[in-house]
Amino acid sequence: MSDLSIWTDIVDHARWAPTPHNTQHARFRLLDSRRAVLCYEPSRLLPVEDPRGQFMACGLGIVLEMAAVAAAHHDLDLEVRYLTGTLDHTLSGPQPYAELTLVPRTKPEPLSRELIKQRRTSRLPYDGDRPVSPTVLAELAAIAEGFEHQLEFSSDRKEVDWVLGLNADTMFYDLRDDRTRAEIGMWARYSMKHARKHGDGLAAHAMMFPGFLMWLFFNKNWIFQIPGLSHLCRALYLRSMRGTGTVAWISGDFQTPAGCVNAGRMLARVWLTMTRHGVYLHPFGSVITNERSHKTMEEHFANSQRKHPLWLLVRLGHSNVPPQAMRLSVDDLIVS
Ligand SMILES: Cc1cc2nc3c(=O)[nH]c(=O)nc-3n(C[C@H](O)[C@H](O)[C@H](O)COP(=O)(O)O)c2cc1C
Repeated sequence: MSDLSIWTDIVDHARWAPTPHNTQHARFRLLDSRRAVLCYEPSRLLPVEDPRGQFMACGLGIVLEMAAVAAAHHDLDLEVRYLTGTLDHTLSGPQPYAELTLVPRTKPEPLSRELIKQRRTSRLPYDGDRPVSPTVLAELAAIAEGFEHQLEFSSDRKEVDWVLGLNADTMFYDLRDDRTRAEIGMWARYSMKHARKHGDGLAAHAMMFPGFLMWLFFNKNWIFQIPGLSHLCRALYLRSMRGTGTVAWISGDFQTPAGCVNAGRMLARVWLTMTRHGVYLHPFGSVITNERSHKTMEEHFANSQRKHPLWLLVRLGHSNVPPQAMRLSVDDLIVS
């Protein structure tokens, strides 16, 4: 039996990678001390919201980049050979996605692996008196450019409010589609006990929603369509985002399978760099997966210089330390 301890350590870091709805769909098949196979778990894909698997492939790209940063701690680099570009939700059991090989490191790694466990999504109010510094924003844009993505941002009050409003509308008005709500509802965790039991998903405490309200949203959604109440909920939701001073939108190849993985690798490095500067991120993924909102956003942020469609909208800023989302264990992620 070869020594698998380095892989175990890498998986222990990679499991903290962010995934949409905290699906944690990556699995690892360890072959020997240098080789492993990255797999995906088909039952954890999102066929309704992400029918082409773009966000799920992006999630695997994030996992790969986190694994590479963790490998750097051992003076190793991660070589990746992709085995497929398709993520098929109809298959059963972990499916091979990429062959991974640990090789001696040749380039320095500026990101320390400690950042992986510090990084979190912050859905808290942001400190309105501390906007994200232009130097940090320029650094993030440069990282994105290194992956052939374009990160644009604005700290203009009107633009920030427009983005927050669009996201809130998507959440409360456009998420009326039964199939979409049912798919997201599968990942809703209404209490700490519920979240701990599953070790994944969107926990009410991390979403900054009272558990009962979240339960009502997914199980009795008609209540939220009563005009007065829907406006109140939208206002409360927007209040939870007070202090937001900066929003950003990213464009790049998000059409090809390789493009989606590359987007994930870029997002991982951008997010870890933000963590290094004490800046938090809150992605607004549903604005992209919702066709109507996506179109509205493309029109609003039209830019003739841009080479690719937008694929992510976020708010970013300084906040208190947000609650930590649950994770599956290393043993759950290592498959035979
Ligand atoms: C591509 C992508 C899209 C996401 N979209 C959203 C979103 O629309 N709304 C949201 O609140 N969180 C979003 N998230 C954050 C995840 O829900 C979060 O990463 C996950 O629950 C784990 O929590 P953590 O990031 O704090 O570890 C997104 C994450 C990723 C990677």
